[in-house]
Amino acid sequence: MTAKRLTVLGSTGSIGTNTLDIVRQFPDKFQVTALSCHNRIQKIHEQIEEFQPQSVCVGSEENAQWLKARLPSPRPEILSGTEGLIQLASNRNADLVVAGIVGAAGLRSTYAAIENGRNIALANKETMVLAGELIMAKAKQTGSLIFPADSEHNAIYQSLIGHQRSDIEKIILTASGGPFRDTPLEAFQDITLDEALNHPNWEMGSKITIDSATMMNKGLEIIEARWLFDIPVSQIEPVIHRESIVHSLVEYTDGSFIAQMGLPDMRTPIAFCLAYPDRLPLEGPKMKMSELGKLHFAPVPFEKFPCLSLAITAANLEGAAPAVLNGANEAAVAAYLDGKIHFMDIARIISEIMEQFELKKMQHDEQFPFLNKIETIEDALDADQWGRQIAQSSLTGE
Ligand SMILES: NC(=O)c1ccc[n+]([C@@H]2O[C@H](COP(=O)([O-])OP(=O)(O)OC[C@H]3O[C@@H](n4cnc5c(N)ncnc54)[C@H](OP(=O)(O)O)[C@@H]3O)[C@@H](O)[C@H]2O)c1
Repeated sequence: MTAKRLTVLGSTGSIGTNTLDIVRQFPDKFQVTALSCHNRIQKIHEQIEEFQPQSVCVGSEENAQWLKARLPSPRPEILSGTEGLIQLASNRNADLVVAGIVGAAGLRSTYAAIENGRNIALANKETMVLAGELIMAKAKQTGSLIFPADSEHNAIYQSLIGHQRSDIEKIILTASGGPFRDTPLEAFQDITLDEALNHPNWEMGSKITIDSATMMNKGLEIIEARWLFDIPVSQIEPVIHRESIVHSLVEYTDGSFIAQMGLPDMRTPIAFCLAYPDRLPLEGPKMKMSELGKLHFAPVPFEKFPCLSLAITAANLEGAAPAVLNGANEAAVAAYLDGKIHFMDIARIISEIMEQFELKKMQHDEQFPFLNKIETIEDALDADQWGRQIAQSSLTGE
């Protein structure tokens, strides 16, 4: 059996390092063809030495020079910037591309991999939020298979195997509720950055951790599910499940619910994507059903999590709305992580930008055609950029 060749985009992040941990456990099954990072060059340097990829991409030419000076020849091809990332992702030497970049920055490379017919392990949900319709259409055209690595979507994917789409009643996306699920609304004004970064169940990168605290993450996942599974938003229901054991469910028309369960460990859904249709005997703690005790499910307290409502509204509007929402969210979360705004400002800023978006849309401003119609990946990126810039201006008071 030949080893599956992997390109890992965002190899220095949480998804990337979990992926490489699986490769480390199964060296005969996987071979790393390419790696990418943005700025953590010390970390990718170590990964290059361990996994010996043929190609690498880093965020800037300066970073590329830093690496070149430290790697003995024969060294891997070292690319940089957006063009380098597209070239890396397009390489047809890879059997599977792990899309583990965070944010809209991952869209062009993921799309390039799909254009080149590569199979994808998709963690970068913002890609589907910005351009889900275009991505699914391109994947259909090139034959690229998209395996969801996001634990909820992976659970749905598994729960759909062997079933007909027409028999789906509902998709139920479980949500841990993040660190503030039990915090009363009156106490939200006292939330600190450290508390928001302290997720009760998952260890993840900082952006998605804040998205989980605001529950924007669940909103982005609803949009992701809408396109991945070609299902209307009205048939996707978020439910609070504090233990993060049931990773999501599909309810069928006959009243059956099919779920995928497991400990909250991202290596499980990533391993599914890497090995499909095989299963990997992963190392690590195993779930014991007899010791689980009670599992809890509850309605989402929408009044505490306005970001989730904003995302559902954007999902229903379709067109440019999800991309604008994403840009505004990324700008607001970055400002929050920089200590520039309060936790509750994130939703307030996004809400203001979405109001401005609806006004602009009604005006059919010829300067911003992408706000009315998303026809290309560039349109989606422009809409994201519009939301991001308006949010940034609002942050700096310009
Ligand atoms: N972490 C999870 O458990 C989890 C679960 C489900 C879904 N996801 C999704 O997976 C994606 C990655 O999340 P993460 O938690 O792994 O994020 P992360 O830990 O912050 O890692 C992000 C990766 O993307 C790279 N990157 C950042 N900005 C970039 C840019 N402008 N251009 C190119 N590369 C860039 C980073 O490089 P540097 O290290 O050099 O900055 C890093 O390798 C997100 O879309 C997230 O929503 C994550």
